[in-house]
Amino acid sequence: MSRPQPITTLLFLLYILTSFNLHCFIEAQQKQPIKSIVVLVLENRSFDHMLGWMKKSVNPSINGLTGSECNPSSTHDPKSPSVCVSNDAQFVDPDPGHSFEEVYEQVFGSGSIPSMSGFVQQALTISQNLSDTVMKGFKPENLPVFTALVREFAVFDRWFSSIPGPTQPNRLFVYSATSHGSVGNDKFNLFEGYPQKTIFDSLLKENLDFGVYFKNIPTTFFYRNLRRVKHFSRFHWFDTFKEHAREGKLKNLSVIEPRYFDLVGYEADDDHPSHDVANGQKLVKEVYDALKASPQWNESLLIVTYDEHGGFYDHVETPYVGIPNPDGIKGPSPFFFGFDRLGVRIPTIMVSPWIKKGTVVSRPKGPTVTSEFEHSSIPATIKNIFNLKSNFLTKRDAWAGTFEHIFSELDSPRTDCPESLPDVAPLRGREAGEDSFLSEFQRELVDLAKALNGDFPLTSLREETSKKMTVKEADKYVTRSVSRFLRASKNAFDSGTDHSAIVDVKSFESAETRSP
Ligand SMILES: *[C@@H]1O[C@H](CO)[C@@H](O)[C@H](O)[C@H]1NC(C)=O
Ligand SMILES: *[C@@H]1O[C@H](CO)[C@@H](O)[C@H](O)[C@H]1NC(C)=O
Ligand SMILES: *[C@@H]1O[C@H](CO)[C@@H](O)[C@H](O)[C@H]1NC(C)=O
Ligand SMILES: *[C@@H]1O[C@H](CO)[C@@H](O)[C@H](O)[C@H]1NC(C)=O
Repeated sequence: MSRPQPITTLLFLLYILTSFNLHCFIEAQQKQPIKSIVVLVLENRSFDHMLGWMKKSVNPSINGLTGSECNPSSTHDPKSPSVCVSNDAQFVDPDPGHSFEEVYEQVFGSGSIPSMSGFVQQALTISQNLSDTVMKGFKPENLPVFTALVREFAVFDRWFSSIPGPTQPNRLFVYSATSHGSVGNDKFNLFEGYPQKTIFDSLLKENLDFGVYFKNIPTTFFYRNLRRVKHFSRFHWFDTFKEHAREGKLKNLSVIEPRYFDLVGYEADDDHPSHDVANGQKLVKEVYDALKASPQWNESLLIVTYDEHGGFYDHVETPYVGIPNPDGIKGPSPFFFGFDRLGVRIPTIMVSPWIKKGTVVSRPKGPTVTSEFEHSSIPATIKNIFNLKSNFLTKRDAWAGTFEHIFSELDSPRTDCPESLPDVAPLRGREAGEDSFLSEFQRELVDLAKALNGDFPLTSLREETSKKMTVKEADKYVTRSVSRFLRASKNAFDSGTDHSAIVDVKSFESAETRSP
């Protein structure tokens, strides 16, 4: 009897292993049913504020509120009166604090680990009444669209904003996994456009495509690359989204940008205080209803999330261990923030016929032991879903948890999803305050519009003209600037300008009037 040759055995084992791996690999690829992703990022609300009370009446496995969570009015004095969570949130005015310094106080109180104890104390520095407001959450019946989606699809109850700071840097993480060192309103980068690589670049490289659908101004113009002439045809007014959905023309990634300016008859639907969340609910319903009726429904995924927590209380400690700085850039003085802590937990909901009813997703399974879900999970998962060959954008999306596994549990798309979501009643008893002055983020949007429109002598960066604009004036200015910019970009494209140029609206328009 001859003994089996070790080398033959080895080869045989190797054969079994590789064919098995290959088989799994092919199966994983085939099991990836998502071809069209729609992302909607709303503004400034924490998880507990929006969804915390759903633990009691919608799904007990959600990490939400029990009702006994409280914050002292002074974190230095344990005997100071405390304010506890309640479920009577309505619309909110004024706006709670959410700058870098303010969030630090909310999260750390007066200690050195995230105790989530300083929300009331921080709110008291703004106004007496705000201390109750920040501890309030919504009754699920006041958010009928989210309640329906949480019952039917998936809620993530451990998804954090990418940095403990405001809108602009957090929105940047969603498509680029970094804010390029920004922790607040960075005027220089806003004017020039942020230079970092984005997931849009990675998609285009492999002949996949995207579209941006907006109502006032696309914040995706924060990125310099997206301002280039060659992209003009990828930007659409929101109504085109419904048309594209109906006709099955949605690209692999669609970005929906809510209305950021609150006008009578055209209410803001970004959920930012003091805007009525009922309008945000209506926008989510509109997007869902359009997708559900689309021929692309069976291959679609809708992601609804928030840029940051807006100063509202959340009870889950923010992660601060093992979080990688994305690109080696530190924040500006005086904090020199290392981008090594995440922001407060925010609501994230996902919708697809491939998601099991009533799914609750908590911690990710990797790729490292400290990985969490945060905004960079979106580009990281897009890379996996489309099997993109480009490198990760930064160290942060390489680290962030991904969620493609939630689409692999069913063998075929569900056929029991609601055709349409519930109607929504307004919560705010008065008209939009279109004559009020701008919030900080709205002023940033006006600055962005100035950059697009060529109205920005860099030397006058410190001029705060937009501070004196009303919401109505700003809306008009911003909308007009975006239309002009896109029209000039189209004309430049058609007339053979270098497609990677960024159009200079003013000189382009005057050249146009000069030519016959
Ligand atoms: C990208 O989108 C197009 C158009 O919907 C679709 O035909 C294609 O299959 C998608 N690509 C991938 C890799 O899903
Ligand atoms: C606080 O609330 C009271 C009663 O609702 C109201 O009269 C008062 O104007 C509020 N104060 C501020 C600073 O908002
Ligand atoms: C959300 O928070 C940012 C950061 O503080 C703030 O500037 C902005 O006013 C808020 N967003 C909107 C849409 O106003
Ligand atoms: C989606 O898939 C289901 C189940 O296979 C099928 O019944 C339905 O007609 C499909 N819908 C669309 C829009 O293709």
